[in-house]
Amino acid sequence: MSDTSGEPVLRKLTIEVRDLHKSFGGQEALRGVDLVVPEGATVVLLGISGSGKSVLMKHIMGLLRSDRGTVLVEGQDVAQMDESALNQMRRNLGILFQANALFDSLTVFDNVAFPLRERTDLPEEQIHETVNKTLGMVGLSHAAQRFPGELSGGMQKRVGFARATILRPRILLYDDPTAGLDPLTTAAVNDIIMTAKKELGATSLVITPDVASAFGMADTLALMHEGRIVASGPPDSFRESHHPEVKAFLRNWLARRSKNRAPPEGTK
Ligand SMILES: Nc1ncnc2c1ncn2[C@@H]1O[C@H](COP(=O)(O)OP(=O)(O)O)[C@@H](O)[C@H]1O
Ligand SMILES: [Mg+2]
Repeated sequence: MSDTSGEPVLRKLTIEVRDLHKSFGGQEALRGVDLVVPEGATVVLLGISGSGKSVLMKHIMGLLRSDRGTVLVEGQDVAQMDESALNQMRRNLGILFQANALFDSLTVFDNVAFPLRERTDLPEEQIHETVNKTLGMVGLSHAAQRFPGELSGGMQKRVGFARATILRPRILLYDDPTAGLDPLTTAAVNDIIMTAKKELGATSLVITPDVASAFGMADTLALMHEGRIVASGPPDSFRESHHPEVKAFLRNWLARRSKNRAPPEGTK
């Protein structure tokens, strides 16, 4: 990137992880992770189960303390934050995990309004306006007065997303938000991630096993392997990479995919 003067333009780094190490009982889960997420970018972390993706994410959220290395979020060292600074930082994070954790006894509207009522002094009128707008964004205007139990899995995910983003976080973290979901719901969640990028302009770090979607949504793909980021780059460079781990990962994915698509026994 360069501006008209030919000087390189430095994009702000929203997340910056340097040489991060973490062991559990002598077992190294992170072995020197380096990762940057520039402001406004969507970075997707790929890697087989157990490679350290969730442990890395938990360091970014300040839920785990590293043995060595640093995590900066918007320039602030997460390890140096006290409880109140951590809470302040987490206000700027929208976090989507596998579980929705919606309040079953609250309507969709009240679920989404919850963070506004808890965390802000907005008058009820403005809360209504904000919630209705957000429900519109995720295509749930018609479901505002329904309860989570009355919704499909995909709709519940969208409510969870609306609630996680109602405070307009600058950073969105997704850890395998489509785990255990059927293909239709998975597609709905992937749509949500794309919507978030477009509508909120948020910086996103996404962990997903859905490699096809990863290629579609990422500005940068990063492959984690045995506690390190072994390769990262734009999707095109990834697809054509000669890096042995990247090639092995993509080969495995293609093999699994064609196996899943094979016709059932006896139909050949
Ligand atoms: N709280 C913990 N205590 C002990 N070991 C852990 C803990 N969290 C993760 N691990 C281990 O760290 C490694 C990386 O785990 P994780 O980051 O969850 O992998 P994934 O890439 O599947 O998200 C695994 O070997 C896992 O068993
Ligand atoms: Mg994980």
